[in-house]
Amino acid sequence: MENKKTILSAIQPSGALTIGNYLGALKNWAALQDEYNCCFCVADMHAITVRQVPAELRKNSLDLLALFIAAGIDVEKHILFIQSQVPQHAQLSWVLTCNTYMGELSRMTQFKDKSQRYSGSVAGENINAGLFTYPSLMAADILLYQADLVPVGADQKQHLELARDLAVRFNNAYSETFKVPEPYIAKVAARIMSLQDPFSKMSKSDDNANSYILLLDPIDTAVKKVKRAVTDSGAEVKRGEGKEGVENLMNIYSAVTGKNMEEIELEFEGKGYGDFKGTVAESVADCLRPIQEKYNDLMKNKDYLQEVYTAGAQKAQGLANKTLRKVYKKVGFLQ
Ligand code: TYM
Repeated sequence: MENKKTILSAIQPSGALTIGNYLGALKNWAALQDEYNCCFCVADMHAITVRQVPAELRKNSLDLLALFIAAGIDVEKHILFIQSQVPQHAQLSWVLTCNTYMGELSRMTQFKDKSQRYSGSVAGENINAGLFTYPSLMAADILLYQADLVPVGADQKQHLELARDLAVRFNNAYSETFKVPEPYIAKVAARIMSLQDPFSKMSKSDDNANSYILLLDPIDTAVKKVKRAVTDSGAEVKRGEGKEGVENLMNIYSAVTGKNMEEIELEFEGKGYGDFKGTVAESVADCLRPIQEKYNDLMKNKDYLQEVYTAGAQKAQGLANKTLRKVYKKVGFLQ
């Protein structure tokens, strides 16, 4: 690998990706790949913190791998792998779990949210220790590759802070071992909100399918969802208190087209929400179309996808093992 800084990031294959995942994460990764050595991971071990149907998990993992490539990740130059195929993640995760405080994990808002949301549902019967210790596994994902930078959406910031704390704690206790990673949270689209409730994050686990756009939604469905998005009783396309729905659509439009918020306000001055939503819907359609075409092509060639993840696992293991060996030696495991 060239002497560039390293990026690691990952997405869970826990269902179809939303345009929030794409604009908040994947799209930025594709843009960063010239400047960095990149490791991108299908985080299937994270996905089983909620019980999965095995055949669906396999399908979702392969889908996600194909979407990474369709979104522009260059697998010749970078490492794209499936987490469960690199055993060092589980191995380092245990060591890190033994260095993570209960109090730190209890403070994680995602754990609090998920355990509350799931209680009373089927998933509520399985509020398991993995859901609780998940941030230590995520820290292992990052620290194994000595990542300099971790590009994520805003919802992952707290987990990243824990990864940094664990790196520093381990380095202080056992001597310099891990690079302390920096978060990279893009300003535009760091948090795409639900189209039906602009106060909550767009999420594929939302009960209302109109609240999210999936990367693989049929184009006319995606267009309809934009047109049905909640706005407000006013008529002006601008940001401000009470205009969160409009602002969310502006944010999506900005991320998709590269225009900034001021430009967008000017563009729609004197025009109503009908025009605005029509243009946003069009831009979303233009964004999804090439990704879907590439994805459909890739899914016709499963052998190629298998080659990609097999080669990816091999390269990832090589890097991960270097770090793991150091860690095992330092904590006192016989060599
Ligand atoms: P996950 O799978 O929930 O989400 C993947 C990425 O998408 C971003 N994202 C969003 N960005 C903007 N607006 C939204 N509405 C939105 N929803 C999701 C997330 O911030 C994330 O960047 N624990 C992680 C996966 C993970 C990981 C890692 C990430 C596992 N190991 C190591 C970084 C480094 C997760 O559940 O993301």
